[in-house]
Amino acid sequence: MHVAIIMDGNGRWARARGLPRHAGHKAGVRPVRACVEQAARRGVTVLTLFAFSSENWRRPREEVSRLMALFLEALDREIDELHANQVELRFIGERERLQPALQRRLQAAEMRTRGNTGLKLVVAAAYGGQWDMLQATRAIAAKVERGELAVNHIDADCIQSHRALAGLPGVDLLIRTGGEQRISNFLLWDLAYSELYFTPRLWPAFTAEDLDAALEEFAARRRRFGRTDDQLHEAPVLRTPTGTPG
Ligand code: FPP
Repeated sequence: MHVAIIMDGNGRWARARGLPRHAGHKAGVRPVRACVEQAARRGVTVLTLFAFSSENWRRPREEVSRLMALFLEALDREIDELHANQVELRFIGERERLQPALQRRLQAAEMRTRGNTGLKLVVAAAYGGQWDMLQATRAIAAKVERGELAVNHIDADCIQSHRALAGLPGVDLLIRTGGEQRISNFLLWDLAYSELYFTPRLWPAFTAEDLDAALEEFAARRRRFGRTDDQLHEAPVLRTPTGTPG
């Protein structure tokens, strides 16, 4: 099962306490840890976290640089334990826009944890769903131009294999905290068949129990992937185009 989370509400959480926005981001690290642990316990196979969007560069410089420092700090602090727990890390997004020191650490963390057999933890940093479609389109077009790929061989699997989440199943459940009910240019292709779960809880206040509540609601929903209820009775296990068991 693939769960994705848009972690929203750090700024509002801080403001409500009379604190600066970065205090909210700092407080947002604890629920990241709680969710990673709980997701692993609950048998989630892929957890994708939206940490920083392509559009977040528009925030004040100071907030952006503090966020980057926070990522570095959290990664350095947690990497040993993540590795010991067999977590495989993957970072998606426009990496070349990140600070070189951060880029090197992300790559080192990916190389170190590659092949681990536990939870796959995907962190989207400088990521945008439209950017992802654009880079996949360019990579495919380049292959066509070089004569390596025929246009009529471009199918859904081909597109998927050029995307940032290549090799991973589509998202089963998308959770967004902080009360807004939108996708905000996060994963687009991968959300084709996702169940969407919105909670007003601000991210720093999100707990392992809140994740459980979302998973319980997900379990109670009926996913049809475009089919009728009657068809579901005939074939209870269905697959999305990206291979997620229904
Ligand atoms: C959205 O809240 C949150 C962010 C832009 C940053 C998310 C970062 C973390 C939770 C830090 C830890 C992450 C990792 C992967 C270690 P917002 O600032 O948009 O809140 P607002 O909508 O209330 O202003």
